[in-house]
Amino acid sequence: MADMPTDFWSGWIATLTIVSFIGLAWFVFSIYFSDDGEPEATDPPVWDEDLHEGSNPAPMWWFWLILALMVFSVIYMMLYPGLGSYAGALKWSQGGRLIDSFADYESEFGGIRKLVAEGQLNTLREDASLVTSAERIFDRNCAACHGYDAAGQAANFPDLTDADWQWGGTPEQIEQSIRGGRKAAMVGWAAVLGDKGVVQMADYVKKLGRGGADGHPAQSQYNQFCIACHGADGGGNAVLGAPNLIDDVWLYGNDDAALRHTIANGRTGEMPAFGERLDDTQIRLLVMLLSRDANGP
Ligand code: HEC
Ligand code: HEC
Repeated sequence: MADMPTDFWSGWIATLTIVSFIGLAWFVFSIYFSDDGEPEATDPPVWDEDLHEGSNPAPMWWFWLILALMVFSVIYMMLYPGLGSYAGALKWSQGGRLIDSFADYESEFGGIRKLVAEGQLNTLREDASLVTSAERIFDRNCAACHGYDAAGQAANFPDLTDADWQWGGTPEQIEQSIRGGRKAAMVGWAAVLGDKGVVQMADYVKKLGRGGADGHPAQSQYNQFCIACHGADGGGNAVLGAPNLIDDVWLYGNDDAALRHTIANGRTGEMPAFGERLDDTQIRLLVMLLSRDANGP
C-alpha cells in the first residue's frame, strides 16, 4: 500500500471520475432536453391547484454556463494532472516547477558564483552589477548598524569606509570580521586608576602621538596597563581589536567625557557573526565592497 496510488487505483480513480462526469452530463441534458414533449398543464403531479412539473423551467443560460464549465473541465483534465496518475499533456507538477526554477537559478547565478569565488577583487569591483548586488546585501544585513553609506553610526558602530581598521583591513581580516563576528574586550580601569588617574589617562591618550606624552604623569601607568593591547606608540593591535589611539579616528569619540568613560568603564563592542546567515558568494561580495583599495586574491 505504501506506493499508492498504483496503476490499479489510478485506473479506478480515472474511471470513477469519467463515469461521474458522464453521469452528470447526462443528468443536465436530460433536464433540458427530455423528449416527453411539452408538459401538459394537467400532467400529474399537480400541487397547489395549478403548480406542476415543468411549469417554471430552469433558464437556458444556466445550461450554457454548465456546458461551458464542462468543456473547461475536459480541457483542464487533458492538460493537467487530475485523472488518476495521468500527468496531463503539459506534464505539469509542483515538484517540476521547483526543479525548473532551481535550474533557472543555477543557470542565472551558477556562472556568477564561480566568477565571484575565483575572480580577483579588483576585477570584480569593476563590474557595476556586482557592486550593486553587494550594496543590496549590505543594505539588508549591515546598514541597520553601520548606516546605509557604511560610514558608521554615532559612537557605536565603526565607519567601514575609512582606512582605519580596528580588526584589520586586508580582505582576509575583513572576511573574518564578517564571517565570525568580533567581540572587543577592554575592561574598565576605574578601580585601578582611581578618578584622578582616569582624568590623567584621558589627557595622556589625547596627547599620544601629538607630542606632550613624554614625561606625562600617566605615562608609566599607560606603559604598565595599556601597552599590551594598544602598543607603546598607541598604534593598536588588530588581532585584539585594540584600536589605534593616535590616528584621530575614534570609535567612541575623543572628547574628555567619552575618553574618560571608555577608560573608566571599558568597552565591549560586538559585531555579530554572519557566517551562518550569508553564503560564500554574499560574503565575498561584501569583502569586495569594503576592502575597496586592497589588492585581494
Ligand atoms: C586587553 C586589551 C586592552 C587593554 C589592556 C586596554 N585596552 Fe583600550 N581598547 C581595547 C579594545 C579591544 C578596544 C575596542 C573596544 C570596542 O571596540 O568596543 C579598546 C578601546 C579603547 C579606546 C577607545 C578608542 C576609540 O576609538 O574610541 C580607548 C580610548 C582606549 N581603549 C584606551 C585604553 C587605555 C588608556 C588603556 C589602559 C588604561 C587601555 N585602553 C587598555 C583593548 C584594550
Ligand atoms: C548589530 C549591529 C551590527 C550589524 C548588523 C553589523 N555590524 Fe559590523 N560591527 C558592529 C560593531 C559594534 C562593530 C565593532 C566591534 C568592535 O567594537 O570591535 C562592527 C565591526 C565590523 C567590522 C570591523 C571593522 C574594523 O574596523 O575592523 C566589519 C568589517 C564589519 N563590522 C562589517 C559588517 C558587515 C559587512 C555587516 C553586514 C553583513 C555588519 N558588519 C553588520 C555592529 C554590527
